[in-house]
Amino acid sequence: MPIIGKRIPPGPKGLPIAGSAFDLRDDPLNSMRRMALDYGDVVRFEVMKRERILLNHPELIYQVLVLQHAKFHKSELTRRITGRMLGQGLLISEGDFWRRQRRLVQPAFHRARLNGYAATMLELTEAHIRDWRDGDRRNMAEEMMALTLGVAVSTLFGSALPVDAAEVGRAMTFLMRYSLRRQRSPIRIPETWPTPKNRRANRELAFVDSLVYRIISERQAADNGSGNDLLGLLMSAMDEDGSQMNRQQLHDEAMTLFIAGHETTGQMLSWAWYALSENPGAEAKLHDELSAALDGRAPSAADFARMPYLRAVMNEVLRLYPPAYITARETVEPVQLGGYEFAPGTTILFSQWVTHRDPRFFDDPEAFRPERWLDGLEERLPPGAYIPFGAGPRRCIGEGFALLEAATVIATLARRFSFRLLPGHPVIPEPLVTLRSRNGIHMQLQSRENAAATPPRES
Ligand code: HEM
Repeated sequence: MPIIGKRIPPGPKGLPIAGSAFDLRDDPLNSMRRMALDYGDVVRFEVMKRERILLNHPELIYQVLVLQHAKFHKSELTRRITGRMLGQGLLISEGDFWRRQRRLVQPAFHRARLNGYAATMLELTEAHIRDWRDGDRRNMAEEMMALTLGVAVSTLFGSALPVDAAEVGRAMTFLMRYSLRRQRSPIRIPETWPTPKNRRANRELAFVDSLVYRIISERQAADNGSGNDLLGLLMSAMDEDGSQMNRQQLHDEAMTLFIAGHETTGQMLSWAWYALSENPGAEAKLHDELSAALDGRAPSAADFARMPYLRAVMNEVLRLYPPAYITARETVEPVQLGGYEFAPGTTILFSQWVTHRDPRFFDDPEAFRPERWLDGLEERLPPGAYIPFGAGPRRCIGEGFALLEAATVIATLARRFSFRLLPGHPVIPEPLVTLRSRNGIHMQLQSRENAAATPPRES
């Protein structure tokens, strides 16, 4: 029993062996919300006889991520899902090794560097929509993933990728799904058995691994490792003692930035189009701001500081549709939280989907209302209440990158088009590795040149 002492948090009893496994498998988002509503800020439940603790109060989440962070590691589950691809990359490494890697990678994400990627982001966005026309129907979930994939490949490796970027994306997407499905399945066939899925996973992994190593080798041989893309910066990064990353570390960090960076941002963007199409009032305010701030120009990084409504839209999208919808940790020493004491090895979870919809901290929490962010809400919220990028030392290293990319894409597309969900198209959040929409997000494009002729919808 991982709980020390007499007090045990309340929680659902669940089924005899499975515990809450089926509820969580069938509808994880609502199951976690129901647990929070029924049992409060600290909930205990079981999954196949393994105990889990769900925290639902910002103060407790802040304890885990910030105040007592040294008592926690990333969870075994996270390592199992991503470890084969990411090795010892930033997302899952720990201790001194993680600290050194973070120190080495951090400069690549400084503001001045990020602004250097803005031109690539804009160029790829404009190229992506070059042949989009009024009346086109597009699956915006797929479009946004393809666009952020292209941005990830270009900013990481430069333009000299020896294969098609989409091929790399397909391999990575297959590998992430494969790992997640394996972890969620009650019956786990060993990875070494030659099933069709296992064989494909081995093939895709070998393809991506050898590609990344080949790029690193070519750069090393050409002695132009210090290029301005992310890989170049990682290759030239030097620690205080003069040491640099070896090939394996470069590979693991490049894979990590690629995986952690493109799907999250792609999903954020596809939810943004959905939320704006459902809220024409908010969309109209965004259009007004874009017109006033850009006056017909393409956006640049410097423009975004003058676009508070765009920032509020992004905050609100990340609140209601957080791409990282759940966070997990494991205690590495005894921890006191919320009046309970947990033994080492306890799995602690919290869900951005749940806490971002908590009516104690957000008025009318289900409503998409960017305005709520315009009067300093972020500063007033208790720490831990709004954490789309996490908090504390393990906070997302790519936050600035993601926000710059999202702002560039939203501003570029919204200048030219409005997007309307196809009538009757069901949009159902599906929590896979990131929060997706189960059936995509199928929309019709309306050129903004014709928008004046279209009667506005009620907001
Ligand atoms: C909207 C987009 C994004 C969201 C919502 C997001 C969310 C997060 C969250 C919640 C964490 C913390 C996980 C934890 O505490 O366990 C994290 C970590 C991380 N993210 Fe992001 N992320 C996004 C974009 C990016 C981008 C663009 C990159 C890189 C280019 C990136 C790279 C990373 C890395 C490397 C970590 C691990 C940092 C560490 O542990 O030192 N992310 N992200």
